[in-house]
Amino acid sequence: MTILFRFIMIFTLFVIPIAHASPWNDLSAEQLESQLKTKFVEGKYSSKGADSCLMCHKKDTKVMAIFSSTHGLLDSSKSPMAGLQCESCHGPLGKHNRGGKEPMISFGSESKLSSDSQNSICLGCHESDKGNGWHSSMHNLEQVTCVSCHEIHTSSDPALSLEGTNDLCSSCHLQEKADMNMRSSHPLKWGDMSCIDCHDPHGSNNEKSLNTTSINTTCYSCHADKRGPFLWEHAPVTEDCTSCHNPHGSVNDNLLKQRAPLLCQQCHMDDGHASRITNKPGIDAFGSGRSCLNCHSQIHGSNHPAGSNFSH
Ligand code: HEC
Ligand code: HEC
Ligand code: HEC
Ligand code: HEC
Ligand code: HEC
Ligand code: HEC
Ligand code: HEC
Ligand code: HEC
Ligand code: HEC
Ligand code: HEC
Repeated sequence: MTILFRFIMIFTLFVIPIAHASPWNDLSAEQLESQLKTKFVEGKYSSKGADSCLMCHKKDTKVMAIFSSTHGLLDSSKSPMAGLQCESCHGPLGKHNRGGKEPMISFGSESKLSSDSQNSICLGCHESDKGNGWHSSMHNLEQVTCVSCHEIHTSSDPALSLEGTNDLCSSCHLQEKADMNMRSSHPLKWGDMSCIDCHDPHGSNNEKSLNTTSINTTCYSCHADKRGPFLWEHAPVTEDCTSCHNPHGSVNDNLLKQRAPLLCQQCHMDDGHASRITNKPGIDAFGSGRSCLNCHSQIHGSNHPAGSNFSH
C-alpha cells in the first residue's frame, strides 16, 4: 500500500459519508471504493489467513491455482503467503464472510476499482523493481493496469512467456500487429523476437518506452555494424533510423517506410545530377531496380576515401 493510498483512505474516512451494508454489486464505483478504503483503515484481517477464505472459495479452481504461482509459494519472506496471504492483495476480510456482505478488493477489467487503486496494491510490493518508469509511462497514464497484462491466479502468466508476449501486446496494439505481419518485419510473428526486445512494458525514461536511451542505441544493440563511426556519415542515419525504417514492419523490403526514389526524395531534390538525360523505365538507373541505390549503395555511411556520395 502506498503512502498516498493510505492518506486518501484516511482522508475519505473523515470527509466522505460512507454508504453501509448494501450488497456490493449494486454499489457505484465511488461507493465501492470508499467502502474498501474504510475497510482498509479498520484493518480487520482474519486470524486464519488463507484458510478463512478457502472455507468458501476452495471450489473455484481458478482461485486455487494461485498456489501453483510465484505468489502462492512460501519461499520468500516477501511473499504474500508469508504475510497477510490472500488479504495482502484483496484487502482485509472484515465482514466479507458474514453472508458476503462486504466487498473485497477485486482486479481486472470487471473490477469497478480505478486502475490507480488496483495498481497501488501491486506497487505496494513492487515499487522498487517496477515503480521507476511506471508512474510516467503511457500505460499508467492511459489507465492500463498491471493485471491487463499479468495473470496472477495461474502457473503460467502469459506476460512472462516469449510466445505469449507478442500476442498480449498486439491484442491492444492493432497497428503494430498489422505491421508485424507485413512482408518485411522483424522476426516477431514467429516468436523469435518480441516487443520487449525494444520496449519496456513498465515504462522507461526514454522516448516511446524504449529499453535504451534512444531509438538509435536500441537499433545498435543488435545492428552494431550500423553504428559507425564512418568517414562519411549520412546525417539521417546517425540521427534516427526510423526516418527511413519502420521497426514494426512494412510492405517494402528492408522495413523501409517508402521505396527509393520516393524515400530519398522526401529530403533530396532529384535534380542534383547534371548528366541525367532520360528517365524512361528500364533504361533509367534513377527509377528502376534499386533506383538511387543503384549508385548510392552505401546508404548507411562509407569508409571509402571517395565515398562522400555513398557510392563506394
Ligand atoms: C463465508 C464465505 C466467504 C468467505 C469466508 C470468503 N468469501 Fe470471498 N466471496 C464470497 C461470496 C459469496 C462472494 C461473491 C460471489 C463470488 O464472486 O464468488 C465472494 C467474492 C469474493 C471476491 C470477488 C469480489 C468481486 O468484487 O467480484 C474476492 C476477491 C473474494 N471473495 C476474496 C475473498 C478472500 C481473499 C477471502 C479471505 C480473506 C474471502 N473472500 C473469504 C464468500 C466468502
Ligand atoms: C498477488 C496478489 C493476489 C493474491 C496473493 C491473491 N489474489 Fe486473488 N486475485 C488477484 C487478482 C489480480 C485477481 C484477478 C484475476 C487474475 O488476474 O488472475 C484475483 C481474483 C480472485 C478472485 C475472483 C476469481 C474469479 O473467479 O473471478 C477470488 C475469489 C480470489 N482472487 C480469491 C483469492 C484467495 C482466496 C486468495 C488466497 C488463497 C487470493 N485470491 C490470493 C490477486 C491476488
Ligand atoms: C505482498 C507482496 C506482493 C504483492 C502485494 C504483489 N506481489 Fe508480485 N511478487 C511478490 C514476490 C515476493 C514475488 C517473487 C519475485 C520477487 O521477489 O520479486 C513476486 C513476483 C511477481 C511477478 C513475477 C512472477 C514470476 O513468476 O516470476 C509478477 C509478474 C508479479 N509479482 C506481479 C504482481 C502483480 C501484478 C501484483 C498485483 C495484483 C502483485 N505482484 C502483488 C510479492 C508481491
Ligand atoms: C503492458 C503489459 C504489462 C503491464 C501493464 C505490466 N507488466 Fe509487468 N511484465 C510484463 C512483461 C512482458 C514482463 C516480462 C518481461 C520483463 O521482465 O520486463 C513483466 C515482468 C514483470 C515482473 C517480473 C520481473 C522480473 O524481472 O522477473 C514483475 C514483478 C512485474 N512485471 C510487475 C508488474 C507490476 C507491479 C505492474 C503494474 C505496476 C506491471 N508489471 C505492469 C508486462 C507488463
Ligand atoms: C490493455 C491494453 C494494452 C496492452 C495489453 C498493452 N498496451 Fe501498450 N499501450 C496501451 C495504451 C492505451 C497506450 C497509450 C497510447 C496508445 O493508445 O497507443 C499504450 C502505449 C504503448 C507504447 C507507447 C509508449 C510511449 O511512451 O509513447 C508502447 C511502446 C507500448 N504501449 C508497448 C506495449 C508492449 C510492449 C506491450 C506488451 C508487453 C503492450 N504495450 C501491451 C495499451 C496496452
Ligand atoms: C526493433 C525494435 C522494436 C520492436 C521489436 C518493437 N518496437 Fe515498437 N517502437 C520501436 C521504436 C524505435 C519506436 C519509436 C519510433 C516509431 O514510432 O516508429 C516504437 C514505437 C512504438 C509505439 C508508439 C507508436 C506511436 O505512434 O507513438 C508502440 C505502441 C509500439 N512501438 C508498440 C510495439 C509493439 C506492440 C511491439 C510488438 C508487436 C513493438 N512495438 C515492437 C521499436 C520497436
Ligand atoms: C533484439 C535485436 C534487434 C534489435 C534491437 C533491432 N533489430 Fe533489426 N533485426 C534483428 C533481426 C534478428 C533481424 C533479422 C535478421 C535476418 O533475418 O537475418 C533484423 C532485421 C532488420 C532489418 C532488415 C529487415 C529485412 O527485411 O531483411 C532492418 C532494416 C532492421 N532490422 C532495422 C532495425 C532498426 C531500425 C532497429 C531499431 C529501431 C532494429 N532493427 C533493432 C534484430 C534486431
Ligand atoms: C536514409 C535512409 C535510411 C536510414 C536513415 C537508415 N537506413 Fe537502413 N536501410 C536503408 C535502405 C535504403 C536499405 C536497403 C539497402 C539496400 O537495398 O542495399 C537499408 C537496409 C538496412 C538493413 C538491412 C540490410 C543491411 O544493410 O544489413 C538494416 C539492418 C538497416 N538498414 C538498419 C538500419 C539502422 C540500424 C539504421 C539507423 C542506425 C538505419 N538502417 C538507418 C535506408 C536507411
Ligand atoms: C530524412 C532525410 C533524408 C533522407 C530520407 C535521405 N537523405 Fe540523403 N542526406 C540527408 C542529409 C540531411 C544529408 C546531408 C546533406 C549535407 O550535408 O548537405 C544527406 C546526404 C546525402 C548524400 C551526400 C550528399 C552530400 O552533399 O554530401 C547522398 C549521396 C545522399 N544523401 C543520398 C541519399 C539517398 C540515395 C537516399 C535514399 C536512399 C537518401 N539520401 C535519403 C537527408 C536525407
Ligand atoms: C547512375 C548513378 C546514380 C543514380 C541512379 C543516382 N545518383 Fe545521385 N549521384 C551520383 C553521382 C556519381 C554523384 C556525385 C556526382 C555529382 O554530383 O553529380 C551523385 C550525387 C548525389 C547527391 C549529392 C548531389 C549534390 O548536389 O552534391 C545527392 C543528394 C544524390 N546524388 C541523390 C540521389 C538520389 C536521391 C537519387 C535517386 C533519385 C540518385 N542520387 C540517383 C550517381 C547517381
